[in-house]
Amino acid sequence: MDIYKNSYSITEKIKLLKKEGKSIGFVPTMGALHQGHISLIECSKRNNDITVVSIFVNPTQFNNPDDLQKYPRTFETDKEKLNLANCDILFYPSEKEIYPQNDSNISFDLGILDSIMEGKHRPGHFNGVATVVSKLFKIVLPDNAYFGQKDFQQLAVIKHINSEYLKNLNININACKIIREKDGLAMSSRNVLLSKEYRKNASMISEVIFESQKLSKKLSVGELKNWVISKFEQNSYLELEYFDIVNNITLEQVNHWNESNTKVACIAVYAGNIRLIDNIIY
Ligand code: PAJ
Repeated sequence: MDIYKNSYSITEKIKLLKKEGKSIGFVPTMGALHQGHISLIECSKRNNDITVVSIFVNPTQFNNPDDLQKYPRTFETDKEKLNLANCDILFYPSEKEIYPQNDSNISFDLGILDSIMEGKHRPGHFNGVATVVSKLFKIVLPDNAYFGQKDFQQLAVIKHINSEYLKNLNININACKIIREKDGLAMSSRNVLLSKEYRKNASMISEVIFESQKLSKKLSVGELKNWVISKFEQNSYLELEYFDIVNNITLEQVNHWNESNTKVACIAVYAGNIRLIDNIIY
């Protein structure tokens, strides 16, 4: 695996590979890699000649400084995992490389995506994600980019900026399914921050959303939301931030089942001070 820290050098290398007719798959990450990340790499490897992974803990998407400071950084084990996964190129830039001092802030119009669910509860978060992903896309110039459905709203934000702001780059956005731990908890770099008791209780998040899928056949939207709220009220380790049911394309709130064909239930929960998200398609 080749490791690049410099944007100019990696762009030149990619241009060369493309000239040779090679297709480029790209998996952007913030490191602390787990099987969820590896599944994106596997997906990219199946469909591209060269797979590029980036590791960059992006400061502009952390609305909470404590969260940024605590975010796990495990570069040496990440490198081993990437070698095992046969990743071809790792891009590991410094903060200065991505955000030079004379760089101006970019502001994206994200429509409702910025004011619902994650957008509402994490002000500025998606503008930071959009900023870094557009910078990375312009450096890596991939044919295909891979994102997890675990971050469902992030995927919608990336599809939006790709078609509204980055059309000329001609990048296909590919969505990959959520990878879960044995007990159902969606894999996340933040899971390692959970102490034993919180980790044990966190399995309730996926249990509740799986059960909510079954109950959606019997209860109204309002009744189902109340059922979810009451489940979390009974658990002193977990605090529900939101549980919303939205149209899977527009992400508009669904208040009656007949308003939309495919619906996604999205949830955010605090386990102590660790924030966890998950979702399920109904
Ligand atoms: P990060 O949280 O490291 O996630 C990198 C990619 O892995 C994202 O596309 C995310 O959706 C996917 N992923 C995480 N957990 C997953 C799981 N359990 N199953 C499947 N895919 C999973 O998301 C980010 O980084 C950043 O916001 C980033 C896009 C890199 C921009 O900074």
